[in-house]
Amino acid sequence: MLDPVRWASHGENRLPGKLRLIDQTRLPEELQYIETDDLAEIHDAIRRLVVRGAPAIGCAAALGLAAVMQHARDRSPHDYLTEARRAAEFLAGARPTAVNLAWALDRCMTRLERESAVRGAAGETTAAVLEDALLDEALAILREDLDLCRGIGEHGLAVFEGRSGLGVLTHCNAGALATSDYGTALAPIYRAHEMGMGPRVFADETRPLLQGSRLTVWELQRAGVDVTLICDNMAAQVMREDRVDLVIVGADRIAANGDAANKIGTYGVAVLARSHGIPFYVAAPYSTIDRALETGESIPIEQRDPDEVRRGFGKLTAPPDCKVYNPAFDVTPAGLIAGIITERGILRPPYTAAIEALFASVDGEHARRNTAPPT
Ligand code: MRU
Repeated sequence: MLDPVRWASHGENRLPGKLRLIDQTRLPEELQYIETDDLAEIHDAIRRLVVRGAPAIGCAAALGLAAVMQHARDRSPHDYLTEARRAAEFLAGARPTAVNLAWALDRCMTRLERESAVRGAAGETTAAVLEDALLDEALAILREDLDLCRGIGEHGLAVFEGRSGLGVLTHCNAGALATSDYGTALAPIYRAHEMGMGPRVFADETRPLLQGSRLTVWELQRAGVDVTLICDNMAAQVMREDRVDLVIVGADRIAANGDAANKIGTYGVAVLARSHGIPFYVAAPYSTIDRALETGESIPIEQRDPDEVRRGFGKLTAPPDCKVYNPAFDVTPAGLIAGIITERGILRPPYTAAIEALFASVDGEHARRNTAPPT
């Protein structure tokens, strides 16, 4: 699979090292990597979508924090922690909608604080010990993401109901490039492909930044999956022509009632699917569910630069001074969602109860293993 987010250490040891990212702004023209341990550069990479997709930005922020904090190795443990808090807060502000970003950074900070309390009591804390613990946690987040993707793929296979040659429409990119491996929405598609079920994918182009055409089509083609690119405004016609059997999309944040935020245009696809009697599925790991938000109305929606719409990739496509509204995400109401495919199974309505049950099992497991539960 692709490796959009990794830890790169060039010696025998894992430290020192850097955050290594595929520069997704350059795809599909060229597959290029960047390596960095610079806080401003990592913040900028998340904001500019060098790395994007909810799980991938969580992994990148965690590994990025570990990379940046190597510069604080000579500080006292107290100063190291203060610096880490400051850096985590800065990175968490890079993009507001995907909960995975704040979730991954919170998890790293909780680990650091726990490590410092435990080792501190024994008089053993040093910045080097904290640095090691931080990298441990960041790498655990990356490894777990890989397992979550595989779990979503296995459970998501059920939506194909054993049928071959199904038409599956997807929006944006919730594939290998958006995670540490295999994707969320694309995971069941990759599994169906591996099982020889020959899924036929329709990928929405996804205006304004074209994650569908630049990234989804690129990665599916590379994996040998049958994929057809359509412009966003063609989805209704393609559904009417009976070419679509199901829709699977990813999510950036899911509220406690199952309302799901995803790339702008997803809500429209869900309305179209409902009107054509096509099941609409959201695929996401537990880390994308924000139990603190009762409904999708409270999900913060990122507003992006108007020039992304007026000057698509540098070409003026509208009067340069025209008014633009450019929300990067929308929220699909739970009532339009046939199921939420998670690594632990497919959640069905009513989602409030299904999400509570999911977290009861996740919390129980963490309590048994004595690890930090997801917040
Ligand atoms: O702005 P982006 O490209 O980060 O938006 C990505 C999406 O909307 C994805 O569908 C979502 O993050 C899920 S990725 C597994």
